[in-house]
Amino acid sequence: MKSEGIIILGIESSCDETSAAVCKDGKILSNIIASQEVHVQYGGVVPELASRAHMQHIVPVVDEALKKAAVELKQLDAVAFTQAPGLIGALLVGTSFAKSLSLSLDIPLISVHHMQAHILSNLIEDPAPSFPFLCLTVSGGHTQIVLCKDPLNMEILGETLDDAAGEAFDKSAKLLGLPYPGGPLIDKYAAEGNPNAFHFPEPQIEGLNFSFSGVKTSILYFLQKHLKEDPDFIQKNLHDLCASIQHTIISILLHKLKKGSMETGIKEICIAGGVSANKGLRKSLTDFGKKYGWKIHIPSFEFCTDNAAMIAMTGYHKFLKGDSSTLEVSASARASWD
Ligand code: KG4
Ligand code: ZN
Repeated sequence: MKSEGIIILGIESSCDETSAAVCKDGKILSNIIASQEVHVQYGGVVPELASRAHMQHIVPVVDEALKKAAVELKQLDAVAFTQAPGLIGALLVGTSFAKSLSLSLDIPLISVHHMQAHILSNLIEDPAPSFPFLCLTVSGGHTQIVLCKDPLNMEILGETLDDAAGEAFDKSAKLLGLPYPGGPLIDKYAAEGNPNAFHFPEPQIEGLNFSFSGVKTSILYFLQKHLKEDPDFIQKNLHDLCASIQHTIISILLHKLKKGSMETGIKEICIAGGVSANKGLRKSLTDFGKKYGWKIHIPSFEFCTDNAAMIAMTGYHKFLKGDSSTLEVSASARASWD
């Protein structure tokens, strides 16, 4: 017999983290994440290696998530999984696993859009944001300002026309000779640097859309020029370079968010996605909040980068609405919103 309450198992395998989480009545009981170190030596995620690592990790990760939540398979009410977007081979591992579990336990299968789940990671926190809220979603593949009217009703108000914010961090880090993924390293070195040491121009893009490719190019030309004069320029100025690059990216993000808040009149503001782990962004957002009277919601670090807690949370809200998939559902590398 099933326990009282609604218990959802969430599975995430869209990129290079294998994760499983258990959500009971909208509260996260466990969130296990196995990161894949194998990619570091290649300077980026190698899709085939990611798929293989997911296959090795998925069973132990799910076992551990259930154990930590003190939940047995037979108590699950549904299994939710990341269906899109992501690396297709990586997604297929989680999709196949979730389908098998749904079939064998005879419970609903719930497909989840990874980016919508990033946004709903804000619902894990207490106090949760009230609706409607605006979410700045910043990850390795996406940069968006999203209007969230309720957990399953979201509208993209603006997005990047080229690189994502995470790519801007990672590509800048690469130009500085830092290993992949460079975002967290820029964050670390920026803490001891001067954000106004160097100036990189911000793009002038209409509306609420973003662009980061011009920033990357200006950093490239700037470094080429200085390295010609002094081959040790990067080593001598690493902290200031990281702080200045980070400052530029954050400024682009927050000025658009401010515009979004002014245009919609919404002051309930969230952030989500891997880049929301950036300490400089978290601090600047808090400062903006004080200045403009925003109510800020920032997920804990654990829920910023890829995790299954956000998948289980989204699955829970879909379950409440009776929104499940059939076994015919397939993983998709790219997917628009519902
Ligand atoms: O959301 P996420 O974990 O995966 C995707 O769905 O893409 O985001 C990964 C991105 C990477 O570009 C990584 O460099 C960036 O988030 N990131 C950071 C930080 N932590 C992760 N960027 C800047 N500062 C950080 N602390
Ligand atoms: Zn993500």
